[in-house]
Amino acid sequence: MGAVGSKQHARVPKASKLSDVYDDNENSVATRYDTLVSAFKTQFEGEKPKTIARSPGRVNLIGEHIDYEGYSVLPMAIGLDVIVAVSVALKEEGNVEEDEAEATLSIANVDGEKYMPKEFPFDHEQEVDVKSHHWTNYVLCGFKGIFDQLKKQNKLESVLESAFMKRVKKVMVMVDGKVPLGSGLSSSSALNCAVTVALMDAFELSFTKGELSELTCLSERYSGTQSGGMDQAISIMGEKDLAKRIDFNPIGAMDVPLPTNLTFLIGNSCAVSKKAESAHKHYNLRVVECRLAAILMAKHYGEDIEKAKTRVTLREVADLYCNKGDLWTALGAVRKALNEGSYTKKQLENDEGLGDLRKIFDCENNEAFNVVLQKNDTFKLRDRARHVFSEARRVHEFQKICEGQSPRYAVSGPIYEHWCKVIGLEPDVGVASDDPTKDFGHPMYGMGKEDALAKLMHLSHESCKTQYECSCDELDELVDAFMSAGALGARLTGAGWGGCVVAVCESDIAEEILADVKKSFYEKRFQSGVANIADETNLLFKTAPSAGAAILHYDDEKGVIV
Ligand code: GLA
Repeated sequence: MGAVGSKQHARVPKASKLSDVYDDNENSVATRYDTLVSAFKTQFEGEKPKTIARSPGRVNLIGEHIDYEGYSVLPMAIGLDVIVAVSVALKEEGNVEEDEAEATLSIANVDGEKYMPKEFPFDHEQEVDVKSHHWTNYVLCGFKGIFDQLKKQNKLESVLESAFMKRVKKVMVMVDGKVPLGSGLSSSSALNCAVTVALMDAFELSFTKGELSELTCLSERYSGTQSGGMDQAISIMGEKDLAKRIDFNPIGAMDVPLPTNLTFLIGNSCAVSKKAESAHKHYNLRVVECRLAAILMAKHYGEDIEKAKTRVTLREVADLYCNKGDLWTALGAVRKALNEGSYTKKQLENDEGLGDLRKIFDCENNEAFNVVLQKNDTFKLRDRARHVFSEARRVHEFQKICEGQSPRYAVSGPIYEHWCKVIGLEPDVGVASDDPTKDFGHPMYGMGKEDALAKLMHLSHESCKTQYECSCDELDELVDAFMSAGALGARLTGAGWGGCVVAVCESDIAEEILADVKKSFYEKRFQSGVANIADETNLLFKTAPSAGAAILHYDDEKGVIV
């Protein structure tokens, strides 16, 4: 069972009015949908959409790069989304010519100049061409994921043999995206999820939110990134006014109410983070490093080397050997099990006895890992594992504080005191420089709720920057700009290496902060042409938890909603 408040067994809602989904002005939203529908009709020669679905981007408040290690994260869905219109043309019965013609999957975008249309065969077994990073790759991921899910449920054959599927002539897909690309707000997952939901509905299938979250997480890996499931899960399961703690294995989404006197702000660093293109030296390399760290930790605990080599996540190892997953114990163990600095491939293969790394990562069948091992010779393990365990702890603390627990108890409290006793320190005296507890920051005695949440965000950014090395100069500069403007806390959000910063502030000074950051960070970028002033509202804005995926039926006479 997932956590209390989980919505994984529910189905994606069918919205009955635009205000169920959007906070924005209804007229401008309705106009956007009308544009989608008319682009659809133009592209597909008068055909009308059968289904329309939307799925949002997200901002992660805390818990970076730990979803693929099995730890919970704490994001919220944002108002910016991807909308997708789909229709399925069927072959005319008895029409021999049509019967023999190859069925197609035809994909287009409202902004056809920037995002060129592409046609694929209607074949769920085709491969996604990861070497050419075309935007339609994510549509193909969504398409393939539906059939993978059917296979998992032992329904693939019966669905493929159904009268409906056998008559498919052409699947038409029209997309409009409002989530800025490469911004760390998860435009790719919003696209994958919106497409998956729209196709599911158009194919007359029905999956639960949990199934959709898991299938889209797996299907997005066809694009070449070995990402965890956070982005897809929050895009599908997000809800208005609530952040969510997303759990994995099993998937679940627990409601986390945010303090009402705080406002979250998003700023784009203007450094584009192309997750799929740079995966081998950034994202996928971190996944490999964490897995190697898990293997060496299992070995440290005396596991037979062949068994240790089957370990996949740090959580798996911590749950087994570190006092049933106690994160303080795990953090202490990291220092004993893993060397400081980097390991070379040779050291890992020979000195640590892991043998051919390519075998561990099944490189013959996994091109993403194959490229990582080809292009990298050094792997940092201790720092990466320290980040993962300390960040997992921060998520827990952030949630507890949002739920009303006193920061003293949630952040330091008895566990901190117990740990200090174990390692022989006086809790109030401070922490020695090699004390593992310093990864959690100094105790937050006497801190108010708002300051403690902000401090956790600050510690998260520091850990991303120094231990996980997924920040960049522009992100650090933007974090500083928010802090100098009076934000309580700020941190990179999403994968990093570019993209966005999320900041938190007292609501009554949000506008002032935005004006200040505009002056200190963006004005010089507008002048130099790094950023376009016309995009201002998409670069720097206030955000609040928004609705997750929804299906909207199109009625040709009444417009989008029936
Ligand atoms: C990307 C991935 C997520 C997650 C974040 C980092 O957004 O898609 O699964 O790993 O990076 O927290």
